[in-house]
Amino acid sequence: MKADSMRQGLLIAFEGIDGSGKSSHLRLLAAFLREQGHCVVETREPSNGVHGRRIRSLFSQRKLLSREEELELFLLDRQDHVRECINPALATGQIVLTDRYYFSTAAYQGAAGMDVATIFAQNSFAPEPDLVLLLQVPPEEGVRRIREQRRERPNDFEQEDQLIKVDRLFASFPHAYIKRIDSTAERQDVQEKIRELVSELCHIRGFKGETCRQS
Ligand code: TYD
Repeated sequence: MKADSMRQGLLIAFEGIDGSGKSSHLRLLAAFLREQGHCVVETREPSNGVHGRRIRSLFSQRKLLSREEELELFLLDRQDHVRECINPALATGQIVLTDRYYFSTAAYQGAAGMDVATIFAQNSFAPEPDLVLLLQVPPEEGVRRIREQRRERPNDFEQEDQLIKVDRLFASFPHAYIKRIDSTAERQDVQEKIRELVSELCHIRGFKGETCRQS
């Protein structure tokens, strides 16, 4: 029996290259779901745990780690995140929205040269998501948004040649629950599409949204 077979909540992951708009669409979706009375947990990877903080501190010094060490850190962080946040929230029937999940490891560490099938196998401890919202923008647009909107220099993960490979890997994943969304469209239209997909999932799973209002 898989560890997540008793879960009652919903797990929705936002994925995409840097600059694809995951974080802002996640926030907008969380607000929408809460208005409807759903219990929502907003979370992200790298997490705020000890390994996640270490990863963030190395964002601009990626060369300090071998790619094997880097993959190991992302896996350790995911173990923390699943144990401390995702599984408890799913067990209590909440809707978990995570900004990145193991598809990012498959795409980014895959782009760095690690074997993608092995990465998926190494993540088999992590509950499968009910829905992955893959926000797609061309890599050059992602880099442009990082520079112009965030007024930041792209970090080591955000170089265009890397993001081209990451984008191709994301596009190649065959899972039926991955929904691809054109994130170059108007922000409002993108959010509308996301809400439609999530509302349909809630409907199918019988999530009516009174849970948090009643408690
Ligand atoms: P990002 O979502 O950009 O973090 P923030 O916007 O909060 O700074 O993610 C950080 C980077 O980590 C991103 O460039 C992709 C990379 N990453 C991996 O390489 N592998 C992984 O498994 C995850 C979760 C992230």
